[in-house]
Amino acid sequence: MRHLIDFGDLTRREWDELYARADKIIDAPEKFIDVCRGKVMASLFYEPSTRTNFSFQTAMLRLGGSVFGFADPRSSSVAKGETLKDTIKMVSGYADVIVMRTPWEGAARAASLYSDVPVVNAGDGGHMHPTQTTADLTTITRLRGSVDGLSIGLCGDLKYGRTVHSLIKALAKFKDIRFFLIAPRDLAIPDYLRQFMRENGMPFVEVTGLEPVIPQLDVLYMTRIQRERFVDPLEYERNKGIYILTRSKLARARENLLVMHPLPRVDEIAVDVDDDPRAVYFRQARFGMFARMALLSDLANQPRKTPEPVEIGKGPICHNPICITQTEHYLPPLIRYNGGVKCCAFCDTPL
Ligand code: NCD
Repeated sequence: MRHLIDFGDLTRREWDELYARADKIIDAPEKFIDVCRGKVMASLFYEPSTRTNFSFQTAMLRLGGSVFGFADPRSSSVAKGETLKDTIKMVSGYADVIVMRTPWEGAARAASLYSDVPVVNAGDGGHMHPTQTTADLTTITRLRGSVDGLSIGLCGDLKYGRTVHSLIKALAKFKDIRFFLIAPRDLAIPDYLRQFMRENGMPFVEVTGLEPVIPQLDVLYMTRIQRERFVDPLEYERNKGIYILTRSKLARARENLLVMHPLPRVDEIAVDVDDDPRAVYFRQARFGMFARMALLSDLANQPRKTPEPVEIGKGPICHNPICITQTEHYLPPLIRYNGGVKCCAFCDTPL
């Protein structure tokens, strides 16, 4: 693995190796304190973050490395109109690994075309968030022994929720999982992912009600309605507060259910659930730090490599208004096929 942009790019074997390392780190973190000694991580956060930013920073510090970057792009030259390409070319000259989060979909893929060092996607708009997935899979594997064979409910904003998109990509690599996609019709998963699930033989049902399916689940993955990504504020108003998990709703759930959430939560899990032993979201956040330590111990230690030059584009080929190609016109016109459908290789929008 050179970059981590989309969990779909990882093989099952690469994930198993990454998990094996995360597992060892959780058991004996003191054995890893020098693994990134002398290495430097750049942390470019163009969008708000608490867990992802802090867990990446603490992961690098716990490995003996150091960190620089920004959590507010107004404090960098982006505010003067610098292109992403120039920012990345320069930052990749200073750092051994780049972790970036942006509101633009496909930005991490774009950055990887110009970086001499590995790029990690820490969230690109409503598209993908693969390192949250490393936290999620680590949590399930540590607490349930395996991911195979589980019934998993994904609930909330499945349209804009990038953590769910990455998790679906990852779960294609496991066996015999049954999916319950629980969302209002407005916020159902994007078509390209529905196609992806069909193509990969991932059995799923789409339902709008949470309570009727709770008794069947091994994992309930709650998500926040992603207010900041709605084009129409009325659509947000219609859907906010639609799912609220309470302690009483868990009465009919399995004894060993895992209630997960990438956090931050708004109101979709009532505070009275926190003390239920099945609520594992705070542990999930801590597992995320260990999973990121495992990832950085590999990526930050890779040799520098100048990428092959790419074609210079002439403007966007995709209509997604928040695709990175809308603002960075020099990007090459890359395409890829999802379930036979021609899509933008940056943001996966069908062309
Ligand atoms: C998520 C994100 O940023 O997509 N948070 C996180 O990284 N843990 C989920 C969210 O913001 O709802």
